[in-house]
Amino acid sequence: MNKIIEDLNWRYATKKFDLTKKITPENIEIIKESLRLVPSSYGLQPLKYLFIEDSVLRQQLREKSFNQSQITDASHLLVICSLTEITEDFIDNYIQNISQIRSVPINSISGFSNYMKKEILSMQKDKMAEWNAKQAYIALGHLLHTCASLRIDATPMEGFQKEAYDEVLNLKQQGLQSVLVCPIGYRSEEDSNQFLKKVRRSKESLFELIQ
Ligand SMILES: Cc1cc2nc3c(=O)[nH]c(=O)nc-3n(C[C@H](O)[C@H](O)[C@H](O)COP(=O)(O)O)c2cc1C
Repeated sequence: MNKIIEDLNWRYATKKFDLTKKITPENIEIIKESLRLVPSSYGLQPLKYLFIEDSVLRQQLREKSFNQSQITDASHLLVICSLTEITEDFIDNYIQNISQIRSVPINSISGFSNYMKKEILSMQKDKMAEWNAKQAYIALGHLLHTCASLRIDATPMEGFQKEAYDEVLNLKQQGLQSVLVCPIGYRSEEDSNQFLKKVRRSKESLFELIQ
């Protein structure tokens, strides 16, 4: 079978993690680099990834996640956050980063900068926050695939109280909001979900060829 399809069939939303198995620091670095490479609108990356180690905090977050055991039991707990707002400074920093990395003068990319500022800074605040949060879903897809290729299990999660997370993690003060949670680690042998067949819509219902 093709490696990509094999990886995607291997993964499943893990319900029960093996408490004893930890992801190696080397693999965590690969996951971080993969998340750094996530594409985003204009390339702005209005995201922040929190790795939560503190076990007391993880217990607290579990209580705000409908008591889902993966929050405390997985090797690592990742919270994907997005910026609530994109500021002119944030765009200027991005432009500087492009200029530095690609060795091009800032004035050669001022058209791009001005265009972004015009489009983004005029957005209503709630629309901007929503747009940023959408970028987090791209990161989640990337993360799930990367983990699967490393044979690391993961559970994509929306089942948590966002406002409570934002408060516990002090996110608002940092201009952030929680969007998604993803515990990662290794499946427990006892997790019966790993044996379930994948349920997906047929190709016929998903794809349409317009000629
Ligand atoms: C955005 C998103 C949110 C999800 N939230 C949860 C969750 O809170 N708890 C959970 O156990 N599974 C959650 N899931 C897992 C889905 O139920 C699961 O991915 C889907 O049923 C397909 O099954 P599979 O991932 O095992 O192939 C979520 C999945 C996605 C993509």
